[in-house]
Amino acid sequence: MYEPDGLSPQKSQLGLRSTLQELTLYDFLLESECLGGEVAKIFQANPLLPGIIITQEGKFTGMISRRRYFEHMSRPYSLELFSQQPLFILYRFTKTDLLILDRQTSIMTAVRQSLERSPELIHEPIVVQVEPDNYKLLDVHQLLLSQLQIHELATVAMRESQAQLRHQAQQLELALLELQRTQTQLIQTEKMSSLGQLVAGVAHEINNPIGFIYSNLHHAKEYTQGLMQMLEVYREHYPESIAEIAAESEKIELDYLLEDLPKVLNSMQQGAERVRDIVLSLRNFCRLDEAEMKQVNIHDGINNTIMLLQSQLKGKPGPEAIAIHKEYSDLPLVQCYPGQLNQVFMNILVNAIYAIIEWNKHENVDEKSQNKSQLCEPKNLHTNTQSSISNSTNSISAIRISTELIEGKKVIIRISDNGPGMTEDVRKRLFDPFFTTKPVGKGTGLGLSISYEIVVNQHGGELKCFSEPGKGTEFAIEIPLQQSSLAKILPRFA
Ligand SMILES: Nc1ncnc2c1ncn2[C@@H]1O[C@H](COP(=O)(O)OP(=O)(O)OP(=O)(O)O)[C@@H](O)[C@H]1O
Ligand SMILES: [Mg+2]
Repeated sequence: MYEPDGLSPQKSQLGLRSTLQELTLYDFLLESECLGGEVAKIFQANPLLPGIIITQEGKFTGMISRRRYFEHMSRPYSLELFSQQPLFILYRFTKTDLLILDRQTSIMTAVRQSLERSPELIHEPIVVQVEPDNYKLLDVHQLLLSQLQIHELATVAMRESQAQLRHQAQQLELALLELQRTQTQLIQTEKMSSLGQLVAGVAHEINNPIGFIYSNLHHAKEYTQGLMQMLEVYREHYPESIAEIAAESEKIELDYLLEDLPKVLNSMQQGAERVRDIVLSLRNFCRLDEAEMKQVNIHDGINNTIMLLQSQLKGKPGPEAIAIHKEYSDLPLVQCYPGQLNQVFMNILVNAIYAIIEWNKHENVDEKSQNKSQLCEPKNLHTNTQSSISNSTNSISAIRISTELIEGKKVIIRISDNGPGMTEDVRKRLFDPFFTTKPVGKGTGLGLSISYEIVVNQHGGELKCFSEPGKGTEFAIEIPLQQSSLAKILPRFA
């Protein structure tokens, strides 16, 4: 009845939730009426048997372990005493508390319960109830071996699940980044298309009437000059005018009017020219019609953008004016999405203006004048670009824009300001979508992340920021002169 299952501690491959029934169980039964000496023979014949189950009329009554049996039998006179007596007599002397567990007990629970026994019982086999009236024995050594195996399995599984978790976390992070990017793009596309259409529409509507005004002003000037000449001729021929005419010319202050009228017309012409330029800049800035790569003059884009920002740069009664210093090099045409690059110039210039204006509201005048005396000394400017910033401008807020051709391959546009600069913490998060230090409702925190997307992903360029608190800020935009063929056909958003 003994089940010799080989030497393996378990019948099958164990899993993390394996139970006792998966282990090798021994069921050598002996009726309690058998002689005690029989047990020795059985143990000798079955060297792996951890103990035998004692039954009475087939029913389980107890268990005697190999260890306990030989321990007792080795005592003086025991062999003579018990080997000729029925087994139940021996059992009365060797009887101990049994650990009886159900076959479905998990191996880990069995190990815990087994180890919780008192030290002298710790090696005793465990009785496993496989059916209501069927009991088998489990060797503790085998139980511990199987626990070791499960422990190893658990370690491997843990490592695998850790690796899997790490992988999943990476995937999640990537998905999140991609989501943020597409969200940024969506907002940008939405903002640009609706704003761009609005601006382009308004620019178009203004363009026609300003055209009438501008071209008619030319005629108006000619006609008034003619009328004024006519008046002169009258005056020459009729120097003594009648009283009524003299009174009327006094009333309208004719001499002053004749002197002022050309000035009025000139300033109207200048105003009309400015409106015409602004409308042109607006149309160029939006460049809605240009979703494709174009060869453009970068300086035109910067100038257009500055033109649109004039009102913010000029300074009202509150903020002081911000000077713009241009240090343009000779640049070839650059292949790019012009509308998008203008957007980048706009975002960076607006940030610089905002930073300077906010800083000027501060009361710490000493700190400010110290920084302004450094006047956004460009951190990376090449020596061949002549600085247009003289000492006389040292005490004012300024933005410097320089351009440079590098190795005939790329252009660098540097936009620096002598504003407050940024802490390292802000600089690190600058290009993160939705990062802003502006008060709630003032900024979306998308300006620079959109700019980064445009420069780096749309144009294969680089966008870098150099800034320290109190030392101003410089943004360097690098754009290759020529784009790869892929970028030309795949504009992401325009
Ligand atoms: N020239 C600068 N000087 C100082 N800080 C700057 C400058 N440019 C950007 N920053 C900092 O970077 C942050 C992020 O700029 P970004 O343009 O992405 O968003 P924003 O300007 O806050 O919001 P939005 O562009 O939507 O108005 C700003 O809130 C500001 O703290
Ligand atoms: Mg911004």
